Amino acid sequence: AAGGLVTLAFAGCGIVGPGPISTEGEVDFDTPLAIPPLAESTIDADGTRVFALDARAGTTEFEPGVASDTWGFNGSYLGPTLVADRGERVRVDVTNSLDEPTTVHWHGMHLPAEMDGGPHQMIDPDTAWSPEWDIDQQASTLWYHPHLHGETEDHVARGLAGMFMLHDEHERSLGLPGEYGVDDIPVIVQDSGFSADGEQESKQRGYAGGLGDELIVNGTRGPFLEVSDELVRLRMLNASTARSYAFTWSDGRPVDLIATDGGLLEAPVSLDHVRLSPGERAEVLLRVTPGERVVLQSKMTSEIAALVGPVADMNGGNDTFDVLEVRAAETLDPAPAVPARLNTITDFDPADIATTRRFELSDSFEINGDAMDMGRIDETVTVDTLERWVVENATQVPHSFHVHDVQFRIASIGGTAPPPELAGWKDTIFTEPETEYELLLRFEDYTDADTPYMYHCHLLWHEDQGMMGQFAVVEPGQSATMTGGTHDEH
Ligand code: C2O
Ligand code: CU
Repeated sequence: AAGGLVTLAFAGCGIVGPGPISTEGEVDFDTPLAIPPLAESTIDADGTRVFALDARAGTTEFEPGVASDTWGFNGSYLGPTLVADRGERVRVDVTNSLDEPTTVHWHGMHLPAEMDGGPHQMIDPDTAWSPEWDIDQQASTLWYHPHLHGETEDHVARGLAGMFMLHDEHERSLGLPGEYGVDDIPVIVQDSGFSADGEQESKQRGYAGGLGDELIVNGTRGPFLEVSDELVRLRMLNASTARSYAFTWSDGRPVDLIATDGGLLEAPVSLDHVRLSPGERAEVLLRVTPGERVVLQSKMTSEIAALVGPVADMNGGNDTFDVLEVRAAETLDPAPAVPARLNTITDFDPADIATTRRFELSDSFEINGDAMDMGRIDETVTVDTLERWVVENATQVPHSFHVHDVQFRIASIGGTAPPPELAGWKDTIFTEPETEYELLLRFEDYTDADTPYMYHCHLLWHEDQGMMGQFAVVEPGQSATMTGGTHDEH
């Protein structure tokens, strides 16, 4: 199968995947980390918090004086950070000022399918789309990005992405660092390519899709972050289109993980590294001493590379990247101790499993032998029932698996219980080669027989190639009906 993959990936295009690369020790941390602005909002008459996003083309100077053509929301690259509270109703007025259609998907959000911003909620040029929904999920670090079928990799790589932070009362009561841009820092990591004079250029392409040889954080090349608090919360988002990372600190201190995709873990976990595949998030706490400097790196040791598979270099394996230098001030504001208990996570009861489904990720970018068809609903799920999804990466290369609308739990990986860092709420998982993942999911509240949600590989080129399927959430006994499309029930 591996031989077949390589032929498939490289036949006819004459390019090879990038080999092991490194920027360790080569990055001049000479630019202050850009902090995406907080999105402004207004409260309308019925109490809805209203945001506005405008997808537009522009130019960005990644290198002073050198303009690159980029896309962004309300600016030329990336987008503002949206912040909302559990219990609020929100609306986002999204305008498309590009000259091609796009969509905006709220990754990790529990919301009605029509508001999801997947491939079916297309926004034509010079038109607007105004989804609204109630925020009813835990404090968490979510994000938004386009999801136009076949074009997602391109639209995200050009710069369309932003963070969506949710807060709740419980999280506030913990006293975690929470001052945006001061001790609560968005860290949006992307790989990119630059010419010698600093103009952004297209990335090398391999089986994983586009892989850049340099990292940018919040759109900043060579970023440093000055902090004046002894405890800092970093909200790390892998917004890269294909590359996975294993984040570590340059001096080998542990990485203190407090939250994953869907919210806080039960307790902080000290790790050697935090691995994030595209789309995944991690909240990490960093305690600094006066005047010190420490570098966030992504380090694929051979041990980690072995986990990501025999063709790990295609996914950026065997590499060490410098990501961000943190510089502590000489005088630091003290921070309280981190609570030993952060959250209560109630396990699903396996006795409640109503349906088991299998998803086989196969070569040629298919799931269960089918490529994505916008006119076909692949799975019909009954609302408010517990589902077990067995996801098997049947290939010899890494993929990822993301499910819309829901935060799920991992019940087992290759037959064993997940490690603590994967035991919380997740919406996207890295799938190691030839490994089976058992997920428990419960789709609640919203049904829509003719508008599907998506599940897919979050390596965006794979998604664009069709490694994606559609599921509808329906009332008991209801069947899904794809309006205007052919419909094939499994
Ligand atoms: Cu982050 Cu279906 O996407
Ligand atoms: Cu994939």
